[in-house]
Amino acid sequence: MKGVILAGGLGTRLYPLTKITNKHLLPVYDEPMIYYPIKSLVETGIDDIMIVCGGNQAGEFLRLLGNGHEFGLKHLNYSYQKNEGGIAEALGLCKHFVDGDKVIVFLGDNIIGESLVKAAQEFRKQDGGARILLKEVDDPTDYGVVKFTAEGAIEKIIEKPKVPPSNFAVVGIYMYDSNVFDIIETLEPSDRNELEITDVNNAYLRIGKLKYSSLKGFWADAGASVEAYYQTIRIVRNFKLNSKKNKARHLTTI
Ligand code: G1P
Repeated sequence: MKGVILAGGLGTRLYPLTKITNKHLLPVYDEPMIYYPIKSLVETGIDDIMIVCGGNQAGEFLRLLGNGHEFGLKHLNYSYQKNEGGIAEALGLCKHFVDGDKVIVFLGDNIIGESLVKAAQEFRKQDGGARILLKEVDDPTDYGVVKFTAEGAIEKIIEKPKVPPSNFAVVGIYMYDSNVFDIIETLEPSDRNELEITDVNNAYLRIGKLKYSSLKGFWADAGASVEAYYQTIRIVRNFKLNSKKNKARHLTTI
């Protein structure tokens, strides 16, 4: 299985922090933002990742990450998204890299406080199709939101609905088989002139090939706003300090 991390965009929601630098290079507590998705993917056993850069300071990813060996990667590949064409367009640049394999796509500003290993295992076992991650949040209006049927199955996903049909947001981590590239070719730009990943997920849903896992740990979308960025740093700091404390406690009791 391959990994793709999307790290393009102008990061305008974080202006002026991102006026001269790429959002994914900003610090989140003690590490650059991009480290978190890389580490989450490496944990699932993926050792071949493509980073799709774009926006400001795109070349700095090379200086920061090099060949990815320090993360345990065999290969770290880079691509460049020239325009603001959306998540699905950025993923479309990775067709040759994915080369018929399955792929986990990670938005570079999404950070999770839980291992992806179980969901990735489920997807590995899955006979093709797609798997998304859902997280219950207080206000899902900034995200893809799930509408469920009376039986609790996904009926459809609506991108940034004004009146959300549920509180279940679609996390920015997506697992696809290689048919995703045929689906991307059929997409039309949305009202915000982007190829929407929500349209990709709805296409899998229509052919009965969309499964989901629920995320129990924290989920932070660090790029949503300056406030979200600030809260992400706070959550990540608490999470790391607590993990350190728990480890120390564990060591003193054995
Ligand atoms: C994107 C997706 C949305 C998803 C979100 C997760 O939103 O379009 O469906 O819930 O990422 O971070 P965007 O960051 O483009 O506003």
